[in-house]
Amino acid sequence: MLLVYMVLTLKAVAFIQTNRLHRFSCCSWILNSRIHVHERVNRAERQFRCLPDHHQQLLTNFIPNLTKIRYCIDRNQEVLQAIVHNCLHMFENMEYGQDCDPKKVRPSSTFDMDKLKSTLKQFVRDWSEAGKAERDSCYKPIVEEIQRLFPPDQCDVSQVKVLVPGAGLGRLAWEIAHLGYSCQGNEWSFFMLFSSNFVLNRCDKENALTLYPWIHQFSNNKMSSDQTRPVSFPDVNPQSLPADSDFSMVAGDFQEVYSDPELWDCVATCFFIDTAHNVLDYIETIWNILKPGGVWMNLGPLLYHYENMANELSIELSYEEIKAVILKYGFVLELERESVPSTYTENDRSMLKYLYDCVFFIVRKPAEQLINGDQTPKDGQIKDSLQTKKST
Ligand SMILES: C[S@@+](CC[C@H](N)C(=O)[O-])C[C@H]1O[C@@H](n2cnc3c(N)ncnc32)[C@H](O)[C@@H]1O
Repeated sequence: MLLVYMVLTLKAVAFIQTNRLHRFSCCSWILNSRIHVHERVNRAERQFRCLPDHHQQLLTNFIPNLTKIRYCIDRNQEVLQAIVHNCLHMFENMEYGQDCDPKKVRPSSTFDMDKLKSTLKQFVRDWSEAGKAERDSCYKPIVEEIQRLFPPDQCDVSQVKVLVPGAGLGRLAWEIAHLGYSCQGNEWSFFMLFSSNFVLNRCDKENALTLYPWIHQFSNNKMSSDQTRPVSFPDVNPQSLPADSDFSMVAGDFQEVYSDPELWDCVATCFFIDTAHNVLDYIETIWNILKPGGVWMNLGPLLYHYENMANELSIELSYEEIKAVILKYGFVLELERESVPSTYTENDRSMLKYLYDCVFFIVRKPAEQLINGDQTPKDGQIKDSLQTKKST
C-alpha cells in the first residue's frame, strides 16, 4: 500500500513552493554530505600522521578504524541517495525546474550537517529496535492516554482525528494510525520529510536497511567499534497499517498550515513545544484548532531551540509560566506528571548522555466555551472550579 503521504492543503502547497530552492538545496546537501564526513576522517588521519613514529606505532588500530569509518560513510551515503532519489516525486502535482537540479551539488555547512546527523539519529529513535526504550518512555504514555480517552470499545476510532505536530520521522503518528485512529503528522524540516517519505512509503521489509548513525561521534566512545556499529531499520513494516487507515503527513510550519478552527479531537505534541519562537503562539493555535471537548497532550522538556540564536526571537518560559497561560486560555488540566525521565536520540554506548526530566500533561478544551466567541484569554477568566487531577 502506498500512503497518501503529502496532503496538499493550500497552505502546504504554498510552503513547498516558497521553499522550493531550500527543498532542492537539502537534496544537494544530503548528496554532498559524504565529502564533508570524509574530510572529517581525513583530518583525523592527517593529525595521526603528525604524531611521532613511536606514538603511531603504539596505536595499531587507529588507521584500520578510520578505514572502517570510511566504509560506513559510504554505506550511509547509499541510503541517503535512496532517500533523495525517492523524494524527487514526493510532491507529485508539482513541477521541477531545471534551475533546481538536485544533482548540482553545493557545499554543506556545519548547520546542514548537524541537521543531517540529527535526522540519522532520528532513524534510531523512530524506526529501530535500538530506539524501543526511548519510544516506550515518551510515545507509549501518549498512545496509552489516547486509548484511554478514546476507547476503541466505546467509539469509532476511525472518526477520532489526531494531529501530531513536529512529527519527526513519523513513528508516533504511525503508531496512532496503526491503532485505527485517523492521524496526521506535520513536519517542516525537509531532511525529516524526505526521510519519513522514504521509510513510510518505500520500506516494506523489517530491518532490511542499515545505517551507521554514530560515525560522526569521535568523542566519548568506550570502544572504537562503538563508533561504527550498525543500526538496522525499520524494526516494523511501515506498510502494515490497517487497509482502511487514514494516515497522512503534511509539510509546513505548524502555525501556518493549521488555521482551520475546531477540527481536531486530539493534538499530541512530543518534544515539540520548545521549538517555538514564542510558545504562546503554539498554545493559541492548539486552542483554536481543537474541537470543543478536544484534548491536547504534551510530553517533553523545554530546551528552547532558538535560545542561542542571536537574531531570532526566543521567549523562554518555565513550565510554571506555560501552565498558567494554558489555564488562562480556558483549558482544563486533566492529567499532569511533572517528572517523566526520557532521552532523545541517545547513543546508548556513549560516555556522555542527556536525561530529560520531562513533563507530561493532558488538558481539555471545554465542550462549553468559557470565553464566548472570543478566543483571547483574559486574566481572571479561569474557572474557579478547574478540575486538576494529579498523578505521578
Ligand atoms: C525535537 S524534534 C521531535 C520530533 C518527534 N516529535 C519526536 O519526539 O521524536 C522537533 C521536530 O519538530 C519539527 N518542527 C520544529 N518547528 C516546527 C514547525 N513550526 N512546524 C512543524 N514542525 C516543526 C522539527 O523539524 C523536528 O523534527
